[in-house]
Amino acid sequence: MVIARTIEELQKAKEGLQGSIGFVPTMGALHQGHLSLIQRAVEENDHVIVSVFVNPTQFLEGEDLDAYPRREAADTQICERAGVDILFMPTIDQMYEPDELCIGAPAIRGYTLEGQKRPGHFDGMLQVVMKLLNLSGADRAYFGKKDAQQLALITQMVRNYFMNVEIVPCEIIRDEKGLALSSRNAYLSSEEKERALALSRALKRATKLVMAGEHNTETIKKEMLDILKEADRIDYAAIVDRDFIAIEEVEIGNTIILVAAWVGKTRLIDNVWI
Ligand code: PAF
Repeated sequence: MVIARTIEELQKAKEGLQGSIGFVPTMGALHQGHLSLIQRAVEENDHVIVSVFVNPTQFLEGEDLDAYPRREAADTQICERAGVDILFMPTIDQMYEPDELCIGAPAIRGYTLEGQKRPGHFDGMLQVVMKLLNLSGADRAYFGKKDAQQLALITQMVRNYFMNVEIVPCEIIRDEKGLALSSRNAYLSSEEKERALALSRALKRATKLVMAGEHNTETIKKEMLDILKEADRIDYAAIVDRDFIAIEEVEIGNTIILVAAWVGKTRLIDNVWI
């Protein structure tokens, strides 16, 4: 495995690759969820590039940019064992210059839910993903469904900018109790981890209600909010279609149910696709 820290090193390493390229962009602190994306990329492509870059432009003032877990040695080992060809770990100055041209996420998907709670987050995310997709030259790029709104925006960006890459959505990976895996779970104490299960419990309850024939989204949200009270602060319980438009009735095959809540100082998100 080649470790590339500069764009020049990445381009040089890519020269040696023949055949299809799968790409998994990450912010590091790799866990089983990332590994499932990497494994799928390895299965479906001749070569795999993984990036580890904690992107400053997608963190808001006062968010956890400095505290975000950084585990370079462990990440390197995980990628090496998984059969990654190139691990790209650039510095900030490799990725950005001052006064950059920026991409703006559309209000409807970029400034609702996650985007309303974290205004500007998706602009920064799209900015770096555009750069990373272009640099990787990937045929396919793998993203988890846990960041559903991120996934929808990236899919739209690729479509709107005629980018020649297939975006592959991948299933959410959960621990044995149901907690969706996230690098931010590392912040949770064991007591908080138990309470964090409220998010997946609320989603399970919602799914059960839908399966029992309850399609009214207000009724479902009420029940979810009741379960989410175990968290310290609820940001939202929402039910939208796959375009992220709020809906009154669940439509099977075109619905995403999402929750966001704080447990202690940690903000968690989770969702289920119906
Ligand atoms: O999902 C993430 O880890 C990040 O948002 C991404 C896609 C790597 C961009 O920084």
